[in-house]
Formats: sequence, structure tokens, C-alpha cells
Amino acid sequence: MVCIRQATLDDLLAMQRCNLLCLPENYQLKYYFYHILSWPQLLQVAEDYGGKIVGYVLAKMEEDAVEPHGHITSLSVARTHRKLGLASKLMTAAHRAMAETFGAEYASLHVRVSNKAAFHLYTETLGYEIHDREAKYYADGEDAFDMRKYLKGKRSRHSAIRSFWQHDSD
Ligand SMILES: CC(C)(COP(=O)(O)OP(=O)(O)OC[C@H]1O[C@@H](n2cnc3c(N)ncnc32)[C@H](O)[C@@H]1OP(=O)(O)O)[C@@H](O)C(=O)NCCC(=O)NCCS
Repeated sequence: MVCIRQATLDDLLAMQRCNLLCLPENYQLKYYFYHILSWPQLLQVAEDYGGKIVGYVLAKMEEDAVEPHGHITSLSVARTHRKLGLASKLMTAAHRAMAETFGAEYASLHVRVSNKAAFHLYTETLGYEIHDREAKYYADGEDAFDMRKYLKGKRSRHSAIRSFWQHDSD
């Protein structure tokens, strides 16, 4: 049994450990503190029955942008606990908090173009779309897809303008 819950300060070291085991993009502990002090609802963890952190999502708000939106800084699930739906649940919890607590219009993220597992999760399971491709985004020179998902009840300005014109010409 694994539960998804909001992270606390006591979880930060375990989140960092999970990140170090799963991803080449790592962060200093102060960056986790910055996230939890600024947007506590946007840090979610997956905790197993023994109290071990087996996955996390670390997210933040981009509040100065034209459209306020959330950004997924990092997501990973321990190898032992993959393909159980945990990443989907962590992401869904972060999306809900972005929209309900912070009024985010959409969520954004970057993913390596070669990361098939994450790409499937984002596009097929969660409904993200490719917004752009950023050349050599990662330190090793790999490109990133810049992806976006409009949150419940929100839609892109582009589609809002399109439907306005369609409606107007009826
Ligand atoms: C990507 C990652 C977070 C997915 O975590 P997870 O808990 O296994 O994902 P879920 O169980 O919620 O699966 C979600 C969907 O992705 C699919 N999926 C998961 N792993 C997959 C894989 N290796 N290949 C293809 N599809 C995969 C699942 O089948 C599921 O699809 P469905 O909804 O159509 O059934 C995990 O593999 C991971 O931690 N990878 C290393 C870190 C990483 O790449 N993070 C993302 C950086 S942008």
C-alpha cells in the first residue's frame, strides 16, 4: 500500500535521495527548501507502508508570467515501484494544487526527447502537448520537449480566440 500526500520538511532528504537515484538532473537541498517554503502544496510524495518515500513530484509556480502557471521541476518514482500508477497520481495531485491553491492556468515541464516512459506518461496518460522543442537544453546536449497541459476548466488563449472567431462567424 502506497499513499500520496503533501510533503513535509522531514521528507526533503528522502526526496533528494530518490532524485539522485533516478535522474541525472540533481538539486542542492536549498532548492527543495525554496520550493517547500514558497509552494508547499506543490510538493507531493508517495510513501510506502513502511514510511519510505518511493516517489515525489517537486513543482513551483511561475507567477510573473502573462498567464500564471505551474511548472514541474522534477518527478521520479523508485524503480521498485514503477508502473503502479504512482507518477500519474503524484502529477494529478500537483495539478490540482496548482489550479485550486494558486490559480494556475496550465502546467509546464521539460522532458528529454529520448525519455519514452515519461513522454508516454505526459502525453497519453496526462494529456500534455508539445509546446516547443529546445535544442541542447540538457547539460549533455540532449534536446528537451517543452510541454504544456491546460488545467481543469482552463484552456489555451489560442483555442479561446479560435472558438470566439468561429462563434462570431456563425
Ligand atoms: C517516468 C516515471 C516517473 C513514470 O513513473 P511510474 O510511476 O512508473 O508511472 P505510472 O505508473 O503512473 O505510468 C503512467 C503511464 O506511463 C506508462 N509507462 C510507465 N513506464 C513506462 C515505460 N518504461 N515505457 C512505456 N510506458 C511507460 C504506464 O504504462 C502508464 O501508461 P497508461 O496510463 O497508458 O497505462 C518513472 O519511470 C521514473 O521515475 N523514471 C525516471 C525519472 C524520470 O524520467 N522522470 C521524469 C523526468 S521528466
